[in-house]
Amino acid sequence: MTENLYRPLRIGNMNLEGNLFLAPAAGYTDSTFRSICVDEGANLTFTGLVSAESLCRRASGSEALLHRAANEKVYAVQLFGSSPQVMAQAAKLLVPYKPDMIDINAGCPVPKVTRCGAGVALMRDPKNMSRIIAAVACVARTDLGGIPVSVKMRSGWDAASINFAECARVAVEAGAALISLHPRTRSQGYGGVSCWRHIAELAAEIPVPVAGSGDLYTALDAKRMLLATGCAAVMFARGAFGNPFIFAAAKNLLLGREGREGRETEEPSDARRISTALRQLELLAKTIGERRASLEMRKVFCAYTKGMRDSARLRTRLVHAETIADYRSLLQNFIRPILV
Ligand SMILES: Cc1cc2nc3c(=O)[nH]c(=O)nc-3n(C[C@H](O)[C@H](O)[C@H](O)COP(=O)(O)O)c2cc1C
Repeated sequence: MTENLYRPLRIGNMNLEGNLFLAPAAGYTDSTFRSICVDEGANLTFTGLVSAESLCRRASGSEALLHRAANEKVYAVQLFGSSPQVMAQAAKLLVPYKPDMIDINAGCPVPKVTRCGAGVALMRDPKNMSRIIAAVACVARTDLGGIPVSVKMRSGWDAASINFAECARVAVEAGAALISLHPRTRSQGYGGVSCWRHIAELAAEIPVPVAGSGDLYTALDAKRMLLATGCAAVMFARGAFGNPFIFAAAKNLLLGREGREGRETEEPSDARRISTALRQLELLAKTIGERRASLEMRKVFCAYTKGMRDSARLRTRLVHAETIADYRSLLQNFIRPILV
């Protein structure tokens, strides 16, 4: 049974056309990449995590992370922090950006974040998590037009403390309208295999939609997760890096549209990958300047060219590119026909 796997979704009072999300990913999901994913069919996008403390200190780096891309009809800002007061104050500072949802990070395993009691450390203190959600939800109601608040969590701190079900219940009681679950523990980091059974348990148990995250590298993985877990939406993270085409492929697959010659999904050509990467570079250069964009895009170009024939040698050169012209000349030698 594959019908209705691509479906509209309501989160609080927000209506989405479909259930394919771009997951929050610090260092990757800037407004430029989000805008490319929206063009490819992402129905909801998230900023990477933004520090509530830094926002309240008006650190300029944090504010730069908050802007909506021109084509983003709906986007969520993800905040992290451990103090209900500071999180509420940070939520108030989002008013000028008009986000469509605020997402609270309860999954980041980085010690710099967890040491302050934030990220996945929130799962060790569900009472504080509850206070944070209630405080942010209150600001969302009074200052932000009633937008929904969501929480993204892991399975738990470690194998001995798997408590996603308890944390999700607490979160929903405090006002969360969506729970996103990346079913690995903090100790697992990003290694091993995510435990989709946890997503299925949660989807069966809580009264709000669940978005599933973890090991979604192909369109087929998205279909498998929706079928296996009954989650309402899927969130692509590493599977979208250098591959925003995954949204169109997933939508086609979930709608039962076949590719050429009956193939389940259509792979983008090398030419399309490279021209999309160059478009991303040019867009980013317009927002942060050519030099910074060129440096930040090195890892992104490596992702876009992964798997192409002879691309390993190309990547050893891409990581030295400093200007748009550098990228163009390297790629011109690699695939001459597409750049003329
Ligand atoms: C480089 C990187 C940065 C990430 N940054 C964030 C983040 O800012 N906030 C967050 O909630 N999750 C973050 N994540 C986790 C992803 O959203 C996702 O849950 C996780 O990668 C599992 O999905 P995947 O196995 O399909 O990649 C990040 C993951 C990666 C690989």
